[in-house]
Amino acid sequence: MTDDLAGAIAAIPLVHRVVLLDETGSTNDDARRLAQEGAPDGTVVLARSQRAGRGRLGRFWHSPGGTGLYLSILLRPEEPLDRVGRYALVAAVAAVETCRAAGAMGARIKWPNDILVAEGKLAGILAELRSGGPAAELVLGFGVNLRTPDGGFPEEIATRATSLAAVSGADVGRAGTAVALVRAIDLWVGRLRAGAWDEVRSAFVSYAPGVTGSAVTLHGGRRGVTCGLDVSGALRVDTGDGVHLVHGGESVAAWGS
Ligand code: BTN
Repeated sequence: MTDDLAGAIAAIPLVHRVVLLDETGSTNDDARRLAQEGAPDGTVVLARSQRAGRGRLGRFWHSPGGTGLYLSILLRPEEPLDRVGRYALVAAVAAVETCRAAGAMGARIKWPNDILVAEGKLAGILAELRSGGPAAELVLGFGVNLRTPDGGFPEEIATRATSLAAVSGADVGRAGTAVALVRAIDLWVGRLRAGAWDEVRSAFVSYAPGVTGSAVTLHGGRRGVTCGLDVSGALRVDTGDGVHLVHGGESVAAWGS
């Protein structure tokens, strides 16, 4: 099964290396280390469990074996740095389509890249960028809740976490979901790299109802209404005295200069 899974992922055109692990600290950390060792664009790291899974804003990502998908992909974008944020949107579109195809028909994106059903979080993405060297290194890390753990999610996330199995009523396999997710990443990264940014943006907006017409409060207390995404992937917020851009800074955190 392990060979089958590695083979199925390796057969996806974007993928140039596959690392399957039983247990690790964090697949994002593994992908970052591999990046610094020269691993190619399209390196995928997949683990059954993580001891130190990381979420956005320094949060812990609960990563037990048997109930979740923990997958990171290293990309080496060649676009100007102010366009690299588009990959975080691509990641969210790929994740939401994977969740919908697995039976979570009502899955949607909460900007910048949480995947929710109603208010329950199904999946999250941690995008990390290193831009100091000759070429940027971008790691997109996906955590998908496949099944609700026996005994439930830990107390601190229990009220806001859900799983694909809970939402779809079906038992969702890790290997099949991993392959489907990497295929979706391949499709949308391919579109982005072929110049179809408008298609990426339209798909994101169609899955993320909150990015148009939602009342939001900006840092500093200013209120406004969301009005889509700009060319860099930033959220546009109309405050009445102009349009302010909110960058997914917390979604594309730098890990080096
Ligand atoms: C979030 O919603 O806060 C993002 C969660 C991202 C979790 C995934 S699991 C695979 C990869 N490895 C990590 O340590 N984090 C990401």
